[in-house]
Amino acid sequence: MTTLKLHESKNYIVDKIQKTFDDWAENGRSELMEKEHAKTVLKFINTIKFKKKFSFVDVGCGNGWVIRKISSNEHCQKAVGIDKSKKMIDNAKLKSISKKEKFIQTDIESWKTKEKYDYIFSMESLYYSESVENALKKIYKIIKDGGQFFCGTDFYKENKATTNWSKKMGVTMHLYSELEWKKLFSDVGFQVKTKHVKNVKGNRKWKRELGTLFIIGTK
Ligand SMILES: C[S@@+](CC[C@H](N)C(=O)[O-])C[C@H]1O[C@@H](n2cnc3c(N)ncnc32)[C@H](O)[C@@H]1O
Repeated sequence: MTTLKLHESKNYIVDKIQKTFDDWAENGRSELMEKEHAKTVLKFINTIKFKKKFSFVDVGCGNGWVIRKISSNEHCQKAVGIDKSKKMIDNAKLKSISKKEKFIQTDIESWKTKEKYDYIFSMESLYYSESVENALKKIYKIIKDGGQFFCGTDFYKENKATTNWSKKMGVTMHLYSELEWKKLFSDVGFQVKTKHVKNVKGNRKWKRELGTLFIIGTK
């Protein structure tokens, strides 16, 4: 069961996931994540052929590092980072480098946006959603026709070295196999492809041999 407690501001009621990532935002772990995730995420992002003019969303943007990378692309018109941790969003706003960037504290499921976007991205975030199915339905709804969702995860059934992360962190994390991820994407309407991006110099065997699983959905 999700425990809710009042935390700092009366308008910000946190659950265990928010509390965990608020702490990570304060103790420097968001920068460690940035450093570690960047090794495969940047390799992946560099393979995307972005449209001439595009808008972009990062779901669970952490300290906003992917948004800063994307807003630096001359064709990017708007880059929106959302995160359910208020302190991650505070960090991201402090580090912001461009007027194209916008950071919003919300979870994906309850985000009220009237716009549709060309690209949605998410790294190591979607499996924290209370319902991955509902999060995916929302993402599908707010992507333009022909748009794409890029979802990166190191936490998947085939990657045995990571399957204990939920227990270690003490939070609910939904664990799926590559095939199950593909089915979740196709069930909401996406055409699906997957890609493993390895870190050949990684300090762990799984980083070198299995790498980050990217699930790519096209609407
Ligand atoms: C492991 S961190 C990854 C952060 C960032 N993507 C990165 O690679 O550095 C997961 C982030 O997702 C956020 N998050 C978890 N569930 C979320 C949800 N349902 N909607 C939006 N953000 C969420 C957390 O607050 C946290 O900042």
